[in-house]
Amino acid sequence: MKVAVIGAAGGIGQALGLLLKLNLPAGSALSLYDIAPVTPGVAKDLSHIPTDVEVTGFAGEDCTPALEGADVVLISAGVARKPGMDRADLFNINAGIIKSLAQKVADVCPKALLGIITNPVNTTVPIAAEVLKKAGVYDPKRLFGVTTLDVIRAETFIAEAKGKSTQDIKVDVIGGHSGVTILPLLSQVEGVSFTDEEIASLTTRIQNAGTEVVEAKAGGGSATLSMGQAAARFGLSLIKGLQGEDVIECAYVQGSGDNAPFFAQPVKLGKDGVEAILDYGSISAFEQKALDDMLPTLQGDIEKGVEFGQAE
Ligand code: NAI
Repeated sequence: MKVAVIGAAGGIGQALGLLLKLNLPAGSALSLYDIAPVTPGVAKDLSHIPTDVEVTGFAGEDCTPALEGADVVLISAGVARKPGMDRADLFNINAGIIKSLAQKVADVCPKALLGIITNPVNTTVPIAAEVLKKAGVYDPKRLFGVTTLDVIRAETFIAEAKGKSTQDIKVDVIGGHSGVTILPLLSQVEGVSFTDEEIASLTTRIQNAGTEVVEAKAGGGSATLSMGQAAARFGLSLIKGLQGEDVIECAYVQGSGDNAPFFAQPVKLGKDGVEAILDYGSISAFEQKALDDMLPTLQGDIEKGVEFGQAE
């Protein structure tokens, strides 16, 4: 298996590179690319860690050598939030970066599973889909917005609030990846119960968790270490799926369109990427209202991406 990390010299990219070097199956290859000249050095640094994963690093204008033969491509290239910004404010810079990187994926490794971390995920994923469509290589089963950070945050915050081990908490987070579009299905969490107030405050905390980090870093960026872990978990699940294991993760994918053309929900991963998009089950009245209320925002985010992706 070969995994390519694009944006590999950044905060997320370096944490992700480290976790993949430690956790990819023996015999895998890890290739790192970033426009930053330090990237071959990041790869050299990682290559001294004694695991059976071969690491190579590339910098400069062209990511082709990093993408050649990749089975999985994880993209965290772009700019991150500063205090006072929301994810939509990143659109002006990151939309163009995703458009050109998706074109490279279409040219070099069109069969790779592509996981997009770069924000605003609600919009960058539809941009990538349009670019891949135009190139005639779009397969909705192979394109993912990485929303795993919302899941691990929800698991952590619920465990903390209820005095449980994080290992015992499993939760699905559906919708999208920004503000009100993030909807943790707290009513379905097994082994704990919540008051209405707890549901409201935990939901808000999970939705705003990224901003908690942005403010605490005081201008130094957004979540990188927890996101590195989330992206590693998701990337390793993609690999397990490719290797024939049954694995389920929430991800932002093109699905039935019942709620919106792209929607995060539990997905069964397999040898071709998405094996099945799973039903998220019955939800509470609170969750149904939150879902109904978020849809115009999510649909607007998607339309913006489709328009940008289709423009010449
Ligand atoms: P960072 O600024 O530390 O790193 C970004 C890296 O991208 C830099 O090394 C930069 O040189 C590189 N880059 C820029 N343009 C590039 C291009 N065309 N090709 C290759 N590399 C390029 O930012 P950080 O903290 O790593 O965040 C990256 C992105 O991930 C941001 O858009 C951020 O909003 C997003 N993010 C997504 C999350 C999610 O849950 N999906 C959570 C946290 C952040």
